[in-house]
Amino acid sequence: MSPLLEVHKLSRFFGGLRAVNDLSFTVSSGEIFGIIGPNGAGKSTAVNLVSGVTKPTSGKVRFQGTDVTGQPPHKLVQYGLARTFQSTTVFGNCTVEENCRRGSYLARYPGFFHSFFSTSKAGEMRQASDSRVAEVLEWLDLHRVRNVRAADLPYGAQKTLGMAISLMAWPKLLMLDEPVAGLSAAEADNVRDTIRKIRAEGISVVVIDHNMRFMAGLCDRILVLHHGQELAHGLPQDVLSDPNVIEAYLGRRYVKA
Ligand SMILES: Nc1ncnc2c1ncn2[C@@H]1O[C@H](COP(=O)(O)OP(=O)(O)OP(=O)(O)O)[C@@H](O)[C@H]1O
Ligand SMILES: [Mg+2]
Repeated sequence: MSPLLEVHKLSRFFGGLRAVNDLSFTVSSGEIFGIIGPNGAGKSTAVNLVSGVTKPTSGKVRFQGTDVTGQPPHKLVQYGLARTFQSTTVFGNCTVEENCRRGSYLARYPGFFHSFFSTSKAGEMRQASDSRVAEVLEWLDLHRVRNVRAADLPYGAQKTLGMAISLMAWPKLLMLDEPVAGLSAAEADNVRDTIRKIRAEGISVVVIDHNMRFMAGLCDRILVLHHGQELAHGLPQDVLSDPNVIEAYLGRRYVKA
């Protein structure tokens, strides 16, 4: 069976800076795939390239066997590839439920004609979206706060809402850029449980984070980026005990210790 996502020799240069350089990796169906690396290693750029936010200088991205290189994010969402951003991107003045409904509209806009004239197609899509909102809110344990303004939620719940919005598009792969940045250990544990629930529904997850404890306990495989290139990749315990990885994070003097 071919992998869900295939990244082949992907590069993005900003002037003379090689933010991502000749990067290849694959993600299988049902996998939680982690990307770690020091600040500026190219993690967000890699996710931006795969999710269509940034166009590659060279290389290929295949999703379910289709070449999707350089396609814009709204097209990739239709293929089943969704993502969240490093900072929370919820609409603060809207309720939790309204945020989700906007997510579904972005993913499956019925078209101007159908919306403007309220056709049966627009009606059907609205109904499908309402049931998806209810399903996702229940699933991520946000149903009790469905009428709360997003800005009034604790930061951890806002991060979960960001995931809920992305799930409205029925993705096959969800990419999460630093889902636990700025969260307490207890909040991070909740986010980890949520990511496991998402995988249990058959959705693959690519997750970027700096928090080693969080990543080691969550990911099936981890890719380590350094200066835009692969430094190591494999099972979490192997990668995190790799002397090259320890040196990249902590410096040479920690390798022996
Ligand atoms: N639009 C851009 N224009 C110029 N340089 C950029 C751009 N985006 C990223 N870079 C540079 O590319 C390199 C990789 O950045 P990136 O944001 O991908 O790193 P990161 O691994 O996500 O870092 P962090 O852990 O701090 O989030 C950095 O040197 C960054 O300054
Ligand atoms: Mg980043």
